[in-house]
Amino acid sequence: MGGKRLILMGPPGGGKGTQAKRLQERYGIVQLSTGDMLRAAVKAGSPLGLQAKAVMDAGKLVSDEIIVGLIAERIQQSDCAKGFILDGFPRTVPQAEALDRLLKEKELKLDKVVEVAVPDERLMERITGRFTCAKCGEGYHDTFKQPKKPGVCDVCGSTEFTRRADDSAATVGARLKAYHDQTAPLMPYYKAQGLLEVINGDRDIDVVSKDLERVLGT
Ligand code: AP5
Ligand code: MG
Repeated sequence: MGGKRLILMGPPGGGKGTQAKRLQERYGIVQLSTGDMLRAAVKAGSPLGLQAKAVMDAGKLVSDEIIVGLIAERIQQSDCAKGFILDGFPRTVPQAEALDRLLKEKELKLDKVVEVAVPDERLMERITGRFTCAKCGEGYHDTFKQPKKPGVCDVCGSTEFTRRADDSAATVGARLKAYHDQTAPLMPYYKAQGLLEVINGDRDIDVVSKDLERVLGT
């Protein structure tokens, strides 16, 4: 694969996590999802989790300081040596600048930034229909990706599923606003660096995966 350090950008519910997991399996590079890291902290009841929970439930962005701290620590770990797929980070211009500094210190470069573009009107259904295997984390959807056998995870056979606390209709508006106000300015930021590729995420999951492989040059 041409790119080893990738960013997957896109709106809430746009399919970043779904596609990052597929890339991780296919190419053996780790998915780093700041949303997953924060949810793990909330679940563990750590001070960081307690601080982040209210912000996440309101659909707002957690402070740049907390997020950059999480990523700085995570990319030091040995499993990131082969590369990584950033999912949900960076989400503000200061986060992108901090990432540039972190990579520069290590003499590393980003290979590609891919925006998975999906129109706003599709996202409510994507988000409110989402559920996840409680055991292995495989993602599903009430309409678009049901388990092959109802109520049983395709991957690990578990019968327990969870829904995210922030996946309520009430929170989607705030998440979209945060995306348009704070994250959209990253597209010109990466375009100016010659790193940005945009793919149409409003198609079947497999079709989006194929297109993603195409832009990554695989
Ligand atoms: P985070 O966990 O990153 O949530 P998000 O950006 O809102 O994105 P989602 O995880 O909701 O969507 P996704 O793009 O991964 O879609 P998925 O593949 O699941 O962040 C949560 C919160 O944490 C934030 O609101 C913020 O508070 C905080 N946070 C995290 N990172 C931060 C940062 N850097 N800075 C500050 N705060 C931060 O797909 C959605 C559903 O659609 C699934 O059910 C899936 O099966 C289905 N689906 C996927 N692709 C398709 C397709 N092509 N067709 C049909 N269905 C599809
Ligand atoms: Mg996600």
